[in-house]
Amino acid sequence: MLPQMVDAQALARQGEYAALVRALLAERFGRQPAAYVHTYGCQGNEADGERLQGMLAEMGFSLCDDPARADFVLLNTCAIREHAEDRVLGNVGRLKTQRQESNTMRIALCGCMVQQAHMARRLRAHYPFIDLLFGTHAIHRLPELLYRLYSTDRRIIDITGEPGAITEGLPLRRESGFKAWLPVMYGCDNFCSYCVVPLVRGRERSRTPRAILEEARGLINAGYKEITLLGQNVNSYRSEGWDFPRLLRELDKLEGDYWLRFMTSHPKDCSHELLDAMAAGAHIARHLHLPVQSGCDRILREMNRKYTSEQYLDVVRYARQVMPDLSLTGDVIVGFPGESYEDFRETLALVEHAQYTSLFTFIFSAREGTRAASMPDLVSHEEKVRWLQELTSLQEGIAAKRCAGRIGQCERVLCEGKGKRLALMGRTGGSQIIEFDGPEALIGHFVQVKILQAKNWLLDGVINEK
Ligand code: SAH
Ligand code: SF4
Ligand code: F3S
Repeated sequence: MLPQMVDAQALARQGEYAALVRALLAERFGRQPAAYVHTYGCQGNEADGERLQGMLAEMGFSLCDDPARADFVLLNTCAIREHAEDRVLGNVGRLKTQRQESNTMRIALCGCMVQQAHMARRLRAHYPFIDLLFGTHAIHRLPELLYRLYSTDRRIIDITGEPGAITEGLPLRRESGFKAWLPVMYGCDNFCSYCVVPLVRGRERSRTPRAILEEARGLINAGYKEITLLGQNVNSYRSEGWDFPRLLRELDKLEGDYWLRFMTSHPKDCSHELLDAMAAGAHIARHLHLPVQSGCDRILREMNRKYTSEQYLDVVRYARQVMPDLSLTGDVIVGFPGESYEDFRETLALVEHAQYTSLFTFIFSAREGTRAASMPDLVSHEEKVRWLQELTSLQEGIAAKRCAGRIGQCERVLCEGKGKRLALMGRTGGSQIIEFDGPEALIGHFVQVKILQAKNWLLDGVINEK
């Protein structure tokens, strides 16, 4: 079945609303209004944030980086863990006084947190100073929502439980001039038992190969050096008979000097064909982010991850066989309901085997509406913190050893900005941060860097002119 598209007519109507908002605000403010947008959460959400900023610019807003100076504050939220939601609520609390002291300030919340019915109810009841609430499926309707907000001066709420559509052609304000997010698919059908994403992002749907290739071509021609293909399950991409390996191979054929990255891959869809496409690619960075979540088969089953630890390690083995220089990263959840210390030790064993470059570790957070939220969870938080520390110190040792083994090697690095310890910082193909000295003019360009020092997982190097 073809995914539902937001049609050209509906999009044109939003363009008309944008013009109305622009005129209305010009008259009301007598100056250019300023907007502040802050995005929490994953890269997919950041890509949404760039579209929200694009629409705001189209409506005549300037974009600023200080909420205190903004007429319109938009928080694009994340619901993945309780901590993510607490951060948003803390920031909203701080905005309350500013909202009361300012005549013009309006506050809006959107994104995954707002898309949850229970949270929308809570925000509506306990945060009356939030002027606009809209969910993930209403992003393209921002011009219409702002028109309703400013023309009625009443609170606006737009949260619908749609399966999710695709919108092409929204205005876009990219954060960087050399690194770009390129969403290729949206939503998730996997329903891992702990995860809120399928509930707030709708069903899986993929953009057409043509739209993706066109966007990639445009980026490369505009001088972008790194394109990251995005999807919650990027490797379950499927459109018009194309699968993800084919998409990668075709993108890799585009002329130019650039890196292709992609995330996040689900182990169940990480086929040999995909790894072969990576290995054969001229532009594909040798980095694979492959979250494992647990090394215990019973827990993996309870998580509904659809693979065993052995199947996961088989994928890793094949990946390293065809790409000996591969950088592997992963995610682990510690303290899933019913997990015992013995189960957790199987995760430690898997991490030892997998030899990650780096690992993102999270303590299980119960998410309303997910199956795991109602499973008995008897291990104390303190105990889980101790397990997490055991895991992070194991991983630190692995990372330090792997880094130390690379001293003296020379790597291609995309220079991304100013460093903390040395003048510049950049990222290797394996997505590791490295610092080195050099002129700021190198930011946004590839450089060859020789690794000189490794302090745990921090790399320092020197530019290697050849
Ligand atoms: N789609 C990706 C990751 C999505 S969320 C995948 O399937 O791998 C990013 C990470 O957050 C997950 O890999 C998981 O490790 C973590 N995570 C998700 N839900 C969580 C929860 N309820 N509690 C703790 N960590 C969670
Ligand atoms: Fe969440 Fe699982 Fe989907 Fe990843 S694959 S987004 S963890 S449900
Ligand atoms: Fe968070 Fe939504 Fe992404 S829950 S991790 S912002 S898809």
